[in-house]
This record gives sequence, structure tokens and C-alpha cells, in this order.
Amino acid sequence: MKKEIKFNLNGEAITLEVNPNEVLLEVLRDRLGAKSPKCGCDKGDCGTCTVMINGKTVRSCLVLAIEIDGQEVVTLEGLMDSGLTPLQKSFIEHNSFQCGFCAPGMILSATELLAKNQKPKREEIQEALSGNLCRCTGYTPIIDAITNLTK
Ligand code: FES
Ligand code: FES
Repeated sequence: MKKEIKFNLNGEAITLEVNPNEVLLEVLRDRLGAKSPKCGCDKGDCGTCTVMINGKTVRSCLVLAIEIDGQEVVTLEGLMDSGLTPLQKSFIEHNSFQCGFCAPGMILSATELLAKNQKPKREEIQEALSGNLCRCTGYTPIIDAITNLTK
């Protein structure tokens, strides 16, 4: 049986009827047009589906939509009120992605880290990004983008 949920997505109030087995990733992409979270593995391993709930990164492929009733959800689209953020610009300047599939999750994980720690060490950045896999760029330019942003 469907259930009505109300939540905030990127600053916008959303009311939606969802099935008990609907996953947040599907709802964001297929029903709300938020395409930055991607389906890489669909089982919690790759981090391409990363979004923030109440300021904390989660894997949206592992979250049921009914769980976000009353919560605040932010996708990469929500970070870009007035164009690219400094972190996104730094990713571009450092050639930190090739296909870009991992980039939204990487940027959200880095954003969460930088909110807590404005000058993270390389090891702290590696730890913060450990749940986000990149299959084509390699991690050095990604970490460089975050390190040089914070210098
Ligand atoms: S698609 Fe969610 S962790 Fe891979
Ligand atoms: S840039 Fe392709 S997976 Fe990271």
C-alpha cells in the first residue's frame, strides 16, 4: 500500500506517494529528475548514488523512500545555487574525472568532510572518500582537487 511522504529536496518541499519497497535512488532519478546520483552497483559498494540526508552522506540505493519522510535531502544539484561551487571548479581544474560517473558522489563526500574539517590531510581525504570508487581517473587528481582547494 502506498504511503504519502513529505520531505525537502534541495530546498524544495516535496510531497509524494511511494510504495514501501521504493528506493530513494529510484525516486530521485525517475520521479524527481535529480540525475546526479547514479546507479553503479545497486548494493552499497560503489558510492555513485551518494546523497546527503540531514547533512550526512548516505548511499541512496540502500535507503527506502519511506525513510526520508520529514528529512532534508541534498543531491549535487542542490549545491549549485549560483553555478559551479569552488570544489567543482577545482575538480575541473585538476582533471579529476574522465567519465564523471563517480564525481557527484565524490564531491558530496568531500563537501561533508570540508564542512567538518577545512584543512584535511591527504590521509583524511582518502578516508573520507574510501566509500566512493572511481574506475577510470585514479584517485590522485581527485585528492589534489580537494587538497589544493583548501590550501
Ligand atoms: S549504486 Fe549505491 S553504492 Fe553503488
Ligand atoms: S571518472 Fe569515471 S568512474 Fe570516476
